[in-house]
Amino acid sequence: MSNRIFNFSAGPAVLPVEVLEQAQNSLLDFNGTGIGIMEHSHRGAAFCGVLDQTIADCRTLGGIPDDYQILFMQGGASSQFFTIPMNFLSAGETADYLVTGSWSKKAVAQAKRFGTPHIACTSEDRNFCYVPQEAEFSSQPKYVHYTSNNTIFGTQFHSEPTVPDQSHLICDASSDIFCRPIDIRKYRMLYAGAQKNLGPSGVTLMIVHNDLVEAGRRDIPEMLQYRTFAENDSCYNTPPTFGIFMMGLVFKWILKQGGLEAIQKRNEEKAGTLYSHLDNGNLFRATADQDSRSLMNVTFVTGDETLDKKFIAEAKEAGFDGLKGHRSVGGMRASIYNAFPAEGINELVKFMQDFEAKNS
Ligand SMILES: Cc1ncc(COP(=O)(O)O)c(C=O)c1O
Repeated sequence: MSNRIFNFSAGPAVLPVEVLEQAQNSLLDFNGTGIGIMEHSHRGAAFCGVLDQTIADCRTLGGIPDDYQILFMQGGASSQFFTIPMNFLSAGETADYLVTGSWSKKAVAQAKRFGTPHIACTSEDRNFCYVPQEAEFSSQPKYVHYTSNNTIFGTQFHSEPTVPDQSHLICDASSDIFCRPIDIRKYRMLYAGAQKNLGPSGVTLMIVHNDLVEAGRRDIPEMLQYRTFAENDSCYNTPPTFGIFMMGLVFKWILKQGGLEAIQKRNEEKAGTLYSHLDNGNLFRATADQDSRSLMNVTFVTGDETLDKKFIAEAKEAGFDGLKGHRSVGGMRASIYNAFPAEGINELVKFMQDFEAKNS
């Protein structure tokens, strides 16, 4: 695959080459059926086998017990921003939100349509460059919602936030799901759009405790109720079959790498190499506070916008794509999800050293 370059895109993002090759082989003829994977009926044995295996591998990988549902929905993580409060929040009721970036702000905006979101903490005072250590919760939140990794600002919770007893913790893990082991018992719901760590865009993985599935409203459209997906094995309507298939391949790939502990070790090494260069080099600096840095999205600047632009342009020329930071932070962002190869980080650091020598 010598024509592949290093893709630092924040999402859709790099996928394991091995997974792409397996997908390629399944496009024309899946498992000797004479029908490509995308052409199989979602009610047929071939796809049902894929679905069951994907769920089984997800359970093995994440240590997800049977009292949690594993569901596949559409509409991206953004649709969860309104589906969650629509199901669990009514006028006059409160849900608590930890606001650590643009995505959690968007979730709050949607919750306002249904109830009263309470902002338990926010790091907006410093343009979201840190994860607050403290939060002030309301007295009886229906749930507590947070974003485990802030894709745009390069910050990440290093452990679950401490929430009041009995709170239903709900997590948007779109940009760091399965980057490390999870203790699912701490959550009532964890969800992620696939397009960073799990596969192609178009499918959202939902891990939801049975109690929460049951607690959802019944007077809203079926497609917006979690129980509809739980009761119909995510096949009430036509599910995103190809996305589910790809996710299954990615789960198998992570298991083959040694599972989540091995992936975490690799992610720490990869991010560590880059942060260490940012801390010790003489031109670039990381934008996130040290104790809040993300393993998945490394944001950095030179402090000079013209130089940032020059770096991004020259890096692209040299085969490092997708390094431009989000406009709300500026500078650069290296998204280095599970599938991003360590080799790409080492090459980037060399390139940065070269650039520093010429431009410092
Ligand atoms: C943390 C987080 N949440 C939500 C979203 C929105 O996801 P989607 O485009 O799947 O709606 C993103 C997209 O980048 C994200 O990074």
